[in-house]
Amino acid sequence: MNLTVIGTGYVGLVSGTCFAEMGNTVTCIDVDAKKIDGLKNGIIPIYEPGLEAMVQRNIDSKTLHFSTNLAKHLVKCDIAFIAVGTPMGDDGSADLKYVLQVAKEIGQNMQHTLIIVDKSTVPVGTADKVKQTIQSELEVRKLNIDFQVVSNPEFLKEGDAINDFMKPDRVVVGSDDDKASEKMRRLYSPFFRSSMDRLITMDVRSAEMTKYVANAMLATKISFMNEIANICELVGADVNKVRIGIGSDSRIGYSFIYPGSGYGGSCFPKDVKALKKTAQEHGYTAQLISAVEDVNDRQKMVIAKKVVDRFGEDLTGKIFAVWGLAFKPQTDDMREAPAIYIIKDLVKRGAKIQAYDPKAMDEAQHFYLKEVTNVSYFNSKYKTLQGADAMILLTEWKEFRSPDFEELKQQLKQPIIFDGRNQYNSQMMQDLGIEYFQIGKKQ
Ligand code: UDX
Repeated sequence: MNLTVIGTGYVGLVSGTCFAEMGNTVTCIDVDAKKIDGLKNGIIPIYEPGLEAMVQRNIDSKTLHFSTNLAKHLVKCDIAFIAVGTPMGDDGSADLKYVLQVAKEIGQNMQHTLIIVDKSTVPVGTADKVKQTIQSELEVRKLNIDFQVVSNPEFLKEGDAINDFMKPDRVVVGSDDDKASEKMRRLYSPFFRSSMDRLITMDVRSAEMTKYVANAMLATKISFMNEIANICELVGADVNKVRIGIGSDSRIGYSFIYPGSGYGGSCFPKDVKALKKTAQEHGYTAQLISAVEDVNDRQKMVIAKKVVDRFGEDLTGKIFAVWGLAFKPQTDDMREAPAIYIIKDLVKRGAKIQAYDPKAMDEAQHFYLKEVTNVSYFNSKYKTLQGADAMILLTEWKEFRSPDFEELKQQLKQPIIFDGRNQYNSQMMQDLGIEYFQIGKKQ
């Protein structure tokens, strides 16, 4: 099929590239000409394992194209995907200005029957707004063109996005039109070699809701475990053991019950807020969802509190080595990363930070921690330790999992680790003579 994907952010770029990989002809559109120029030359603006090679392969085989000209590419496409950003508005709701701007442009330029797919995470009712926007533009043009608006939310995870897209747990298609559903089924059938049952069709509003509910449910699991971790610590239990104890119940399961320094990223914080806001707009107070958010905000500061409990409120003259800045491993993304909040708090108390992250240091330096003084960046995890009072681990990159602890002890002023992701064994730390603070188990 001939596809147009509008928006070359995470979702747009990964979706467009994977559709091209499956043999479709895809043009990815963006208003950012510099970004499009880079992409034409295979330069991708994000770090995502495997993506660069896949983009290049499909550029070479002429299945993947990049352009700033939506009007031109709409003429020959079968399906247009809207994958532009839905940033959080000041009131916590998803801001639809980019989505509706694209809808307007589609209405102004479409020439023939078209399926328009909302792939961005959008509140319930957005497909109707997209439809109305396109319809009004067609009326201005005095045209009567048949089109359908379909909801097809994306569930990919950063860091494993290609795998998630190529081998999805499920694909949700929300459509009120059988022909459009059938076309979507054809598009996705190569992704389900064994079972088409994983393509779930439903009405548009339920599909829009499904995306928010999936993210809110996962965020709830995390906040629940973080709350349990804090209680475990107070009662003298070990959350790492409790986690294994409960995960063995197949009704609960092991995934997404790892306690830590709270969830971050581009989706959970924004989507939990937006769902709360949607409920509020309909006169409902979403108590549990509000609590999920509050627990997460508090959890981001747990490690900073442990540092203060150990070193005092005034951290003047103290140096901390921070391992990990990204909101999770395998990405350079720092959106809502706990590291931002923790580092700012420690610096405000007078501390100096020596930071290292395998991928996110550029983001930190040029954007998220740009204004924060007293943070220096090193190109190796061991270099951050020199003269530091303690090491603080905030992202569970594989390379932090089994470091040379003797080297660590030698470099630090005193052997102290604050572990925001429970990466080490506390007995081993004790045997090594390392003072070890973690989440959900008393030191
Ligand atoms: C998430 C969803 O998983 C994905 O389906 C959706 O499309 C977008 O949002 P992503 O934000 O890339 O994906 O990251 P994910 O791997 O889900 O992790 C989110 C956050 O939860 C991270 O900050 C991670 O550290 C945290 N987390 C995850 C925990 O604290 N504990 C866990 O057990 C799992």
